[in-house]
Amino acid sequence: EKEKTLAIIKPDGMSGNYSEKIKNAILDSGFTILKEMTIQLDEDAAMGFYAEHSSRSFFSSLVKYMTSGPVLILVLEKENAVADWRALIGPTDASAAKITHPHSIRAMCGVTIEKNCVHGSDSLQSARQEIAFFFEEKSSGRVVTEH
Ligand code: CMP
Repeated sequence: EKEKTLAIIKPDGMSGNYSEKIKNAILDSGFTILKEMTIQLDEDAAMGFYAEHSSRSFFSSLVKYMTSGPVLILVLEKENAVADWRALIGPTDASAAKITHPHSIRAMCGVTIEKNCVHGSDSLQSARQEIAFFFEEKSSGRVVTEH
């Protein structure tokens, strides 16, 4: 059964010119890229996307980071896409990933637990919500500048 998942190349990944490398890794791993767009998130969009983290101490810093430059939003499809994309990017903490998952994408381009250069949906349900957030017509989240 094919699944869709949402990937984001975050501002540090974009400014470091990692997007081509990451896209190649995605294609080499058998994903199809169904949709992609480069956008600048505004504060409302970043807060909306990460609403589940709104009570966390790192929330305002996360919003600042995610609005610090353009991001590349990708919809990926393959069998087992949600888990396979999470496996490819590695653990949230990029500094730990460099030791425990040296071949992961976060080990390649991430720096810290916050500046971890990519996002991946953590379940099929959040994948559906996150794809709708950016790509559905009446989406609240797509309040952004498209590049
Ligand atoms: P992501 O997978 O996009 O989901 C939530 C994001 O919040 C995460 O990647 C990091 O960028 C950030 N994050 C998660 N945990 C922490 C933390 N403990 N401190 C700072 N940022 C975090």
